[in-house]
Amino acid sequence: MEDGSEVSIRGWIHRKFQVGKKIFIRVRDSSGVIQCVIEEGVVGKEKFNEFEGAKRESSVVVSGKLRTDERAPGGKEMYVSEGKVVGFADDFPIKGYEGVEFLLDNRHLWLRSTYLTNVMKVKHTALKLLREFHTQEGWWEVTPPIITSSAVEGGATLFKVDYFGEPAYLSQSAQFYLEVLIYSLEKVFALTPSFRAEKSRTRRHLSEYYHFEIEGAWMDMEELMKFTERTVEYVVQNLIDERQKELEDLGRDIESLKRVKAPFERITYTKAIEFLKQNGVNIEWGNDYGADEEAMLTKLFDRPFFVTHFPKTIKPFYMKVDENDERVVKGFDLLAPEGYGEIIGGSQREDSYDVLLKRIVEQGYDPKDYYWYLDLRKYGSVPHSGYGLGIERLVMWVAGLEHIRDAIPFPRFRERSKP
Ligand code: 4AD
Ligand code: MG
Repeated sequence: MEDGSEVSIRGWIHRKFQVGKKIFIRVRDSSGVIQCVIEEGVVGKEKFNEFEGAKRESSVVVSGKLRTDERAPGGKEMYVSEGKVVGFADDFPIKGYEGVEFLLDNRHLWLRSTYLTNVMKVKHTALKLLREFHTQEGWWEVTPPIITSSAVEGGATLFKVDYFGEPAYLSQSAQFYLEVLIYSLEKVFALTPSFRAEKSRTRRHLSEYYHFEIEGAWMDMEELMKFTERTVEYVVQNLIDERQKELEDLGRDIESLKRVKAPFERITYTKAIEFLKQNGVNIEWGNDYGADEEAMLTKLFDRPFFVTHFPKTIKPFYMKVDENDERVVKGFDLLAPEGYGEIIGGSQREDSYDVLLKRIVEQGYDPKDYYWYLDLRKYGSVPHSGYGLGIERLVMWVAGLEHIRDAIPFPRFRERSKP
């Protein structure tokens, strides 16, 4: 805006300092921060005293003329002619040098920080882009349940709830419900909270996270992987455009994001294990690798890449066994570079009734719990595939965060359910 234009702002005092009869307040609203100057000679003694008594985070309404000042953040400041304090703030407990636990206990206040605000904006746009892309490509958004009666990803991480006196569980994945819906809508997606009772606290595990999942009828693993890489390219490239300022403020290396272009490299699980062994890791074919090994793998490429064809013994029963090698399944993980690791897990699904039944029993589950899931293979089964993307994993990577907890406003993990 031009110098001299009259503007009005409602917001919160982000920073404040006083030089004689001049008060400088930096007022924050959802769009950013602007410096405002209040002079006693202009607003009068009474108003001046009112602002003098307003501490950081007090809410204010101010209006006045804009003028250029290189010392002000953003290069402009407001010369206040009128204003009032709407809500006076107590002494704000966050000064800027507190530890992690204190900031987590005061998350309800810490969320006002520029840092977390930037992350939330990146997340908003990532979600918007995912919806936009799938809608453009002809996919339908659906709303699966969160209270469920059976495990998708194994019993170890299930949260049990008391459902009118009967046991039920919080959903780990909407996958099985999405598989139901492809028989009418063919290509579906959902954004649903997923729950995992992860016992250990890590940089990339939450006990509640937002799960973006897709399921497509008639798609084989190859087609799904092609679609997956186009999706990730679309989201990242548009994020660079639409959230450039926030990403820069967060200190994100944009050049690395610019390299996120399809097609992505692929390696098989077998190759991944060979690589790990060559690098001194004590691991055998058939073992699952952990977060540290996964981080080693991400040094292989400078952009996201797929790891494919895992042993069926370490993957869930629903993944389709590979016709060319019965020991492995047609599943993949998409790993983000720079040590971030898995952001997407997907597969072609077992579409044969007999094989699926056998796999359920093999893995020690009761087929009765999966009667409706098995039914889908009895009434016009089709080849189909899908994946799940952890939204906070995606945000952690694209925003360059050190810890997944900052990719969600109110993180949940072991020993943390407040605020
Ligand atoms: O690899 P996962 O366990 O796969 C599934 O749940 C499939 N049923 C999804 C599907 O095919 N529809 O989880 C999928 C993704 C992971 O790649 C990861 O990004 C994220 O969900 N995720 C977590 N994110 C944060 N905290 C956790 N504890 C997570 N567990 C998985
Ligand atoms: Mg996985």
